[in-house]
Amino acid sequence: MDLSQIDLMKKELVGLFGYPVEHSLSPVMHNAAFSKLDLDYLYLPFEVDPDNLKAAVEGIKGLGLQGVNLTIPHKKAVIPYLDEVSREAELIGAVNTIKNESGKLVGYNTDGRGFVRSLAEENFELHNKNALIIGAGGAARAIAFQFGLEGVHELYITNRTLEKAKNLVCDIEEKLELKNVQALSFKTKNLKEIITEIDLLVDTTPVGMYPNFEVEPVIDPSLIHQNMVVSDLVYNPVKTSLLRTANKKGAKIVSGLGMLVHQGAIAFELWTEKKAPIKLMSEVIKDEIENNKN
Ligand code: ATR
Repeated sequence: MDLSQIDLMKKELVGLFGYPVEHSLSPVMHNAAFSKLDLDYLYLPFEVDPDNLKAAVEGIKGLGLQGVNLTIPHKKAVIPYLDEVSREAELIGAVNTIKNESGKLVGYNTDGRGFVRSLAEENFELHNKNALIIGAGGAARAIAFQFGLEGVHELYITNRTLEKAKNLVCDIEEKLELKNVQALSFKTKNLKEIITEIDLLVDTTPVGMYPNFEVEPVIDPSLIHQNMVVSDLVYNPVKTSLLRTANKKGAKIVSGLGMLVHQGAIAFELWTEKKAPIKLMSEVIKDEIENNKN
């Protein structure tokens, strides 16, 4: 961050708690958005050792921060220190955004909603569609619960470790009282038939992430068809090996960049109560990704 460009008399502070935080693109994205809207806000990265998380959260109140984002490894651990947690965050069991509401700390999870917004931006409405999620980690969990809330028709979750997909499915079935969610193994016999009916495929695994971008996608490319939308949460490179394959197959693609921008935009809107400048935020992130490669 170039401090000479920043008005240090700014009053409203927000930021990011993570460990580590130095590679995060959020500070540059949010500060550009504040600047564009002429808002008197500053976003700062804070490297918070897990042992100091409680004190850091108390510091939000003590220092009068308007809110923070949370990243690895604090998303779950922060929950006991908050005054209130939104329904989505409670269901997902993770918080990525805190808003300081006049001394009351409220936790939200904007990942799932951010992803759904990024799909809507590409004119994809989830309601009554069939979706397949690859992976069963934190990101998959946020997205799967959101898909459940949005009224997806059939939801399939597949994972290298099948047990984790099964646990996620059980949790969704129980908490959302749904019966249309199924775990699949990578080796499920009728995978091909199931995928024929899939409208949306989302890869939440880190496979294909820079610098290891010349890898085969997790899913067998022959299963991708032109009637599906394919999304990869990996946003560096913007066009991953999965998205390049999907492109060749004539499928519509949605980059993970959209989720990054929209989860941030929802946090921005929670803090400032202003509409986030999506286009600018997206351009800033793309530039940063390009510049960081050199
Ligand atoms: P995130 O918060 O980004 O979701 P995570 O919680 O660590 O990260 O989850 C990573 C997911 O990617 C997991 O589902 C993981 O599969 P396992 O549960 O079997 O570990 C999946 N994953 C990671 N590397 C993978 C690989 N090389 N091939 C297939 N799946 C992979």
